[in-house]
Amino acid sequence: MPSLKSLGSLLLATLAGGCIAATPKIPYYIIRNAEAPSLGRPGLTPIGKMRAENCIPGALSQFNIGLIITCNVDKRGETGLDCPAANLTVVPLAQSLGVNITTCDSGEDADGECTKNTITNFNKHSNQSVLVVWGTSDYDHLIEYVDLDDAVGDAGHDKDVILMSADLIVSATPRSGGKESIIVVQSMNCTGIDGTA
Ligand SMILES: *[C@@H]1O[C@H](CO)[C@@H](O)[C@H](O)[C@H]1NC(C)=O
Ligand SMILES: *[C@@H]1O[C@H](CO)[C@@H](O)[C@H](O)[C@H]1NC(C)=O
Ligand SMILES: *[C@@H]1O[C@H](CO)[C@@H](O)[C@H](O)[C@H]1NC(C)=O
Ligand SMILES: *[C@@H]1O[C@H](CO)[C@@H](O)[C@H](O)[C@H]1NC(C)=O
Repeated sequence: MPSLKSLGSLLLATLAGGCIAATPKIPYYIIRNAEAPSLGRPGLTPIGKMRAENCIPGALSQFNIGLIITCNVDKRGETGLDCPAANLTVVPLAQSLGVNITTCDSGEDADGECTKNTITNFNKHSNQSVLVVWGTSDYDHLIEYVDLDDAVGDAGHDKDVILMSADLIVSATPRSGGKESIIVVQSMNCTGIDGTA
């Protein structure tokens, strides 16, 4: 039987939750690493380099990004071999925006709360958005980390498409009341890369 006092704090917490829910929810964005050589070989391919240097700084400048999160290779060196490529994908963007890149671990043993907590903590002090740049091979974990397992996509767009495509930007807008985030998927529209030949 809960005491009157704890019922009181529950009511306060609910009211406070209501106030937080009333503030506009800030979207965050997810991209995968740009095109990179397979088998963990270093760097980006020529196309990936074009994407990182000539396209992403322009294509993502419209999203009011204030922090970038990339991934670390897991301690066993098994998962996230494309995390260094994820970093290279956004170094030019970070430089052009003047924002920091921070990292969270990938893989089975990673702190599953790191990505979500980093976004939440950043948005306690800022209305700018966070961009998450993850290695394709660990994308399944990322989807769990940011609670997008049950995200609601716009028509015909499944969150899993980003697994395949370096040209996609997923925007996720959290909803209050623990409801699934709304995701929208769009192309980077990189000139000379993402159109027809
Ligand atoms: C990202 O790349 C930059 C430029 O090569 C490098 O200075 C930095 O240490 C890298 N960061 C990570 C987390 O790999
Ligand atoms: C980047 O991180 C450094 C060190 O934590 C901090 O002093 C600086 O204010 C940050 N820059 C931005 C743009 O957030
Ligand atoms: C964020 O936006 C809200 C509502 O527009 C505003 O009241 C608040 O001051 C802003 N916070 C920051 C840190 O800019
Ligand atoms: C790419 O082009 C499509 C179609 O014009 C547009 O809906 C989308 O917003 C564009 N992507 C970006 C990142 O601006």
